[in-house]
Amino acid sequence: MDVNYWNEFAHEYDDHVIDAFTYGRSKTVGQQVKRFAAPDKDVADFGCGPGKMLPYLSEKFRTVYGYDFSDKLLEAAHKRCEGLKNVHIAQADLSQPVDHLPMVDLAVSLNAVLMPDPELRMNFLRGMASRIKSGGHLVLNVPSVESLLYSYFRETEWWRRMGNSPKEAEAMVDASYITQPQQVAQGVLIRGTHPTKHYLREELMVLARDEMGLEVLDVLKMEYDWKTEMEDDVPDWMGEPYPWDWIMVAKKP
Ligand SMILES: C[S@@+](CC[C@H](N)C(=O)[O-])C[C@H]1O[C@@H](n2cnc3c(N)ncnc32)[C@H](O)[C@@H]1O
Repeated sequence: MDVNYWNEFAHEYDDHVIDAFTYGRSKTVGQQVKRFAAPDKDVADFGCGPGKMLPYLSEKFRTVYGYDFSDKLLEAAHKRCEGLKNVHIAQADLSQPVDHLPMVDLAVSLNAVLMPDPELRMNFLRGMASRIKSGGHLVLNVPSVESLLYSYFRETEWWRRMGNSPKEAEAMVDASYITQPQQVAQGVLIRGTHPTKHYLREELMVLARDEMGLEVLDVLKMEYDWKTEMEDDVPDWMGEPYPWDWIMVAKKP
């Protein structure tokens, strides 16, 4: 998923992407961001895409920076933020050095650190952490390995409740395609059509501590409704626990 992918995808982004800020149950992203908001604080959205969260940040912070490498998605972000004087949108490849970007009190990143390449991914994570002021915070949203497997468990149960034997139901849920190109150990799994990095809860905690120099405050579930995960009409019994992304909240010492 390089810059060309996101540029080509930009015109259908709002129709096809279930973004965490808009679709998360209980508005978890907004709630976590609000914990650290104040009129004398600055925030940056790393990988802001079409900027769905920027107007919300604009109401709650002194200055808002939105960064992304896709010029097409940034066009949409500019449109969305027309007239918002405290929002500054800039094109940046966040897998490259980011020393030129201003320091902020809060860094937010929603489903942007998804690249399979470990070097690009670590550059993004370390660079983002380097832009947080001492005493500042990070709210990071990423896909969950656990949730993806759990969704297949629920789908199997669905087939069983439709009258299939447990063996038949398991055979109907063949998810072997998600493990191409064989990077299961790395949490790189096919989502839609593209290899996408997914994270384990404990992996996030280690990354924050050992790679980003942050102190983890919380790793929370950011739940979605089942209808965002499954294409068909979801039966009523399929309620809690819902599928989720991870939200890690961390502090720069
Ligand atoms: C799934 S979208 C999420 C966008 C937005 N945060 C949201 O929740 O709607 C992933 C975003 O990360 C951006 N992105 C991926 N790699 C990037 C990089 N190396 N530098 C800057 N932006 C990047 C993409 O352009 C895209 O806008």
